[in-house]
Amino acid sequence: MKISVIGCGYLGAVHAASMAELGHDVVGIDVDEAKVEWLSRAKAPFFEPGFDDLLARTLATGRLRFSTDFADAAGSSVHFVCVGTPQKRGEYAADMRYVQGAVESLLDVLKVGDLVVGKSTVPVGTAAALAALVESKVPGALLAWNPEFLREGFAVQDTLHPDRLVYGLPAGADGDTARALLDEVYATIVDRGTPKVESDYATAEMVKTAANSFLATKISFINAMAELCEATGADVKLLADAIGYDDRIGRKFLNAGLGFGGGCLPKDIRAFMARAGELGADQALTFLREVDNINMRRRIRMVELAREVCDGSLLGKRVAVLGAAFKPDSDDIRDSPALNVAAQLQLQGAVVQVTDPAAGDNIRRNWPQLDVVDTPEQAAHRADAVLVLTEWKQYRELDPAAFGKLVKQKRVLDGRNALDREAWTAAGWAYRALGRRAG
Ligand code: UDX
Repeated sequence: MKISVIGCGYLGAVHAASMAELGHDVVGIDVDEAKVEWLSRAKAPFFEPGFDDLLARTLATGRLRFSTDFADAAGSSVHFVCVGTPQKRGEYAADMRYVQGAVESLLDVLKVGDLVVGKSTVPVGTAAALAALVESKVPGALLAWNPEFLREGFAVQDTLHPDRLVYGLPAGADGDTARALLDEVYATIVDRGTPKVESDYATAEMVKTAANSFLATKISFINAMAELCEATGADVKLLADAIGYDDRIGRKFLNAGLGFGGGCLPKDIRAFMARAGELGADQALTFLREVDNINMRRRIRMVELAREVCDGSLLGKRVAVLGAAFKPDSDDIRDSPALNVAAQLQLQGAVVQVTDPAAGDNIRRNWPQLDVVDTPEQAAHRADAVLVLTEWKQYRELDPAAFGKLVKQKRVLDGRNALDREAWTAAGWAYRALGRRAG
């Protein structure tokens, strides 16, 4: 099939290459010339394991190309909208101008029988409004909503092997036409027996925001338990293990620590609350405000803990921050809890050295006031405290004995409950973590 993908950020770039991998003829379109240039040279503009290889492989087939010219979407029969929906400045609501702009630009190239497929995370009601716009300008062109659930760090795997497909379809015969086109696009995935949920537009839009809200709630639940563990002397890690054995609960997404960040969970739960308010159903989601509050409190608590271990004052203390990305295997620092803590420590007078295996350049570009070093060893040089704030494998595997020779004080704060507490304490470190007793 001939496919266009509008927006080549995280979602779009991976989607475009994955569609080419499935055998389609794909053009990825983005207004950012530098991004298009990078992608065309098989270079990922962001850190994503396996993506460079996928790009190189699919570009070499001749089935994938990237362009800044919207006119290149003409001739495709399916057009995926993969642009961002960031949080509006100073508001909870999502900024919809990129989605609106993408669909309006598509109107110039759409023809009868084409299908516009929304993948962006949008406020419920968006698809119906866009479908009406498409129908009014290009009668006979259709729209479907097909949310994406990819996780950064697993984007290629999640796109090529999704755990479910969700089709939000128009009613009646148009729905059958749209379904048939989507089934053709995803034939390889559908034939594998991947579960498929077909619904109206509103349900499909809500599947995404509901899923992310559930995940955020699960993380904040265990972090609320961590607060209680701190008050009672209980251990949140053991608690999570024990409740996680109940398969109705499950152990996944019960890792207590600094909480969630990134380009999706925080802004998606806020946009969901804003949309519920517009719909007069705000009470239904007031609990998400608490989910957000619990999450943000963890960052403040981490700074307090750092002050506590630094004998009550951060002024002039040398603090090594290991990890800045919002999670491992990513260079994404959007709403990163780790970076938030690093910045707070610095603002409160600490001398902070940040290191991250992938996010260094992003920090230098966006947070020039923070000192970035290349290795954990450099960061730890004569440190009064070491904070592990993103659970990269290389930090989990540090040798506490050798690492202890670099620092001034052997104090480690495990912001992700990721280190082997026994090994660190055995090597003479004072170990502290959120939701666990001092070790
Ligand atoms: C998320 C959803 O998982 C994905 O389905 C959706 O499409 C986009 O948003 P992503 O933002 O890549 O994906 O990150 P995810 O792996 O979900 O982690 C989100 C945050 O939660 C990270 O900051 C992570 O460190 C934190 N987290 C995760 C915890 O604090 N504890 C956990 O147990 C799990």
